[in-house]
Amino acid sequence: MSEQREHFGSRMGFILAAAGSAVGIGNLVGFPVNAAKNGGGAFLLMYAIFVIVICLPVMIAEMAVGRKAAKNPVGAYSVLSENDSKWRLAGLLSIITPFMIAVFYTVLTVWIFVYLVLSVTGNLDYIASAAALGDVISSPYLFLSMIVVAALVRFILVSGVKDGIEKTAKIMMPALFVMLILLVIFVLTLDNAMAGVEYYLIPDLDKITPKVVSNALSQAFFSLSLGMGILITYGSYISKDTDIAGSAKLVAITDTSVAFIAGLMVLPAIFSFNPSVNPGELSDSGVSLIFSYLPKIFLALQSTVGYFFASAIASIFFLLVFFAAITSLVSIIEVPVSYLMDEKKQTRKKALNTMFLWAGLLALLTTLSAGMVDFLTSLTSYGGKSKSLFDLITDMFYDTILPLNGLLICLFVSYRWKSQKLNEELSKGNPNFSKTFLAKYTNFALATFIPIVVGVIFIDTVARTYFGYNFFG
Ligand code: PHE
Repeated sequence: MSEQREHFGSRMGFILAAAGSAVGIGNLVGFPVNAAKNGGGAFLLMYAIFVIVICLPVMIAEMAVGRKAAKNPVGAYSVLSENDSKWRLAGLLSIITPFMIAVFYTVLTVWIFVYLVLSVTGNLDYIASAAALGDVISSPYLFLSMIVVAALVRFILVSGVKDGIEKTAKIMMPALFVMLILLVIFVLTLDNAMAGVEYYLIPDLDKITPKVVSNALSQAFFSLSLGMGILITYGSYISKDTDIAGSAKLVAITDTSVAFIAGLMVLPAIFSFNPSVNPGELSDSGVSLIFSYLPKIFLALQSTVGYFFASAIASIFFLLVFFAAITSLVSIIEVPVSYLMDEKKQTRKKALNTMFLWAGLLALLTTLSAGMVDFLTSLTSYGGKSKSLFDLITDMFYDTILPLNGLLICLFVSYRWKSQKLNEELSKGNPNFSKTFLAKYTNFALATFIPIVVGVIFIDTVARTYFGYNFFG
């Protein structure tokens, strides 16, 4: 059975595919927005620390579990726990979470596609207007765009791991990098851009509050695609002679560099557009920042470069975000697909059809919950706020269950599968691994402070989101 399992064609292919998953809307929008609102350099510093001390060991653990078991997350938890039903449940959570995150990520990707089409067709002035976001999220064109996005993702996934996922990452990732660098060079030449660079790069340590710390950790977790079963699944497609720890380091470095460079584009652009900006008071959500603030910045460029070039720059930006979103979407949908193939013995095509039916249906309802259908828009209320279906899914799966999955993988690897087996797996492809500092650190951290820190954040999120109670004031 495992000899028929598909594999990535090369170590580089695997690294690009994993980086393609990690680099997404979270890096290009979530990170710069969070950095702008949470003290610039202070946020950047905390983020970098978390990537190294917490996220890297968790990433290594997920990849190792996947490769050892050569299975999807449910299969992996089951096999490595010798069919313990408690751990199988943890595996199931790692299938349901990506499925639900795929639903809200699809909705965002569809919006981005509409903005891309609007900026390419010369409507930058319209998307920069106050009415645009409201119009777009209730426009019938959304359904057409959803079909385009779904068809594209299906087209990639139907070709499988090597010819679909890996090939796409090999094309889209370098293209994304080139576009990003071009945009940064352009933004840095704008007036007043250096004020933004300064705010971004020089940390003001007084700005490190509990909220900044907690936001930095959630952002790092999401950005590196942890807790979603993705790296377990991708790990199951790598060969035994691949050095996992070395690959994980490269994925973390790529993801963090892209987030860092995206900050270098967005923060100076904000300062240049509005020199008296107080970044702490920027609009509250990433969604409104990308969809209403950024188009305004691009439109403002017309005074220096003219409307045509301003539209071209906006188009490149949305194309960049769209590429990043597609490679992330592909990775997250592959998780339930691999589950259906391994556990339910479905063919890849059948598994994809099952997935697209259910995820498509839910994504449709979620799209309608952004204002089009009242019942779904004010579906429920908790923590003192009214919540739509979109809010409910993001609160439950992105904010709450994601860190819980992170906690479970640490406990699983340290106390059930055991550190010694982790080291054995990591030594394949890197015979000296267990003597390295990283090995000792990974074993220690996974068993001790990572579950504690992630556990505290989990409890804080549950209290704050569902009960409106703030531990940290
Ligand atoms: N790491 C992605 C990002 O930063 C998050 C993600 C990955 C979301 C895969 C969905 C699927 O945007």
